[in-house]
Amino acid sequence: MMVESVLCMNPGDGETSYAKNSFLQKTVLSKARPILEDTIKDMFSTALPTCFKLADLGCSSGPNTLLFVSEFVDVVYELCQQLNCKLPEFQVFLNDFNAVFKSLPFLYDKFGKEKRDLYGQHCFITGSFYHRLFPSKSLHFFHSSYSLHWLPKVPEGISNNKGNIYMAKASPPNVFKAYLEQFQKDFSLFLRLRSEEIIQGGRVVLTFIGRSIDDPRSKDCCLYWELLAKSLLDLAAKGLVVEADIHTFNLPYYNPYEGEVREIIKMEGSFDIDKLETFSINWDANDDISNKDFVFEKDQCGRNVANIVRAVAEPMLVSHFGDDIIDELFKRYAEYVGEHL
Ligand SMILES: C[S@@+](CC[C@H](N)C(=O)[O-])C[C@H]1O[C@@H](n2cnc3c(N)ncnc32)[C@H](O)[C@@H]1O
Repeated sequence: MMVESVLCMNPGDGETSYAKNSFLQKTVLSKARPILEDTIKDMFSTALPTCFKLADLGCSSGPNTLLFVSEFVDVVYELCQQLNCKLPEFQVFLNDFNAVFKSLPFLYDKFGKEKRDLYGQHCFITGSFYHRLFPSKSLHFFHSSYSLHWLPKVPEGISNNKGNIYMAKASPPNVFKAYLEQFQKDFSLFLRLRSEEIIQGGRVVLTFIGRSIDDPRSKDCCLYWELLAKSLLDLAAKGLVVEADIHTFNLPYYNPYEGEVREIIKMEGSFDIDKLETFSINWDANDDISNKDFVFEKDQCGRNVANIVRAVAEPMLVSHFGDDIIDELFKRYAEYVGEHL
């Protein structure tokens, strides 16, 4: 699977689009806001640049895309009012996979090795945050929300993960090892690249999905995707999906345990951790304690969750299984999720 060409959210603003089904990610952004505020305040205590250069990595497109930017500017604005200082200028960079970048491999193919190395070392045009994106020591602030659990590739050597599409309770031991090693490699790379691009004293705020229990065989880790694999197997039983196609499909995804994240940041060595906080969020983000009008209704909740997962995973599933099965697949999935909830 060419991850870069299929790891994009459902486009447009129709019923199944990411734009219409990203309330969960919006809730995550608001839960992380206190950390953002503290981090900006902390930066202010050392120096205030005349032009703040910041980037949102994996910004997608939809109502959340500019939310981080407006929150960032709001916090700085309020601080400037309190401190009676001049508001800086802001230069904002938004990064995501985009149709323009899909033609990059063709451009690279046209070059010999020497020129290919030029891109990535001197000229930065790439959609993936697992490559250099910015010139050396040029940015003050990096932000990424709900994106870094996506890996740039599916780990190798997991062809025995039959009947599963991610780590699952029934996965063989090598699958857990391969996923962890892939994440270690990719997250370390991400940190190294950002450390080359950030100015001395800059800050990074990252929010991504993790698991609350160290053991990846726990339900907390992988049930979300296990239910999708189960739905695919149901469709195979009905002859709508070829079972062998399920065996060869694995997600380029990893939800680490807190300790794994700490360990990688320490081992990689470019950054110190100021704060590492975890928070939980319900599968159906509408089911929040602050939403007093919420009434649990299993079919509706199942559908809400299925819509969120569909908006994120549909392009990947379509590229492997075709688009004929998608409606039926997510109907099935919504039923399983409703039962589980
Ligand atoms: C679930 S969306 C989150 C979007 C947005 N940050 C939000 O909070 O709503 C994850 C985004 O990360 C992007 N993404 C995943 N891997 C990426 C990579 N290696 N480089 C750039 N973008 C990536 C996907 O294309 C997708 O748009």
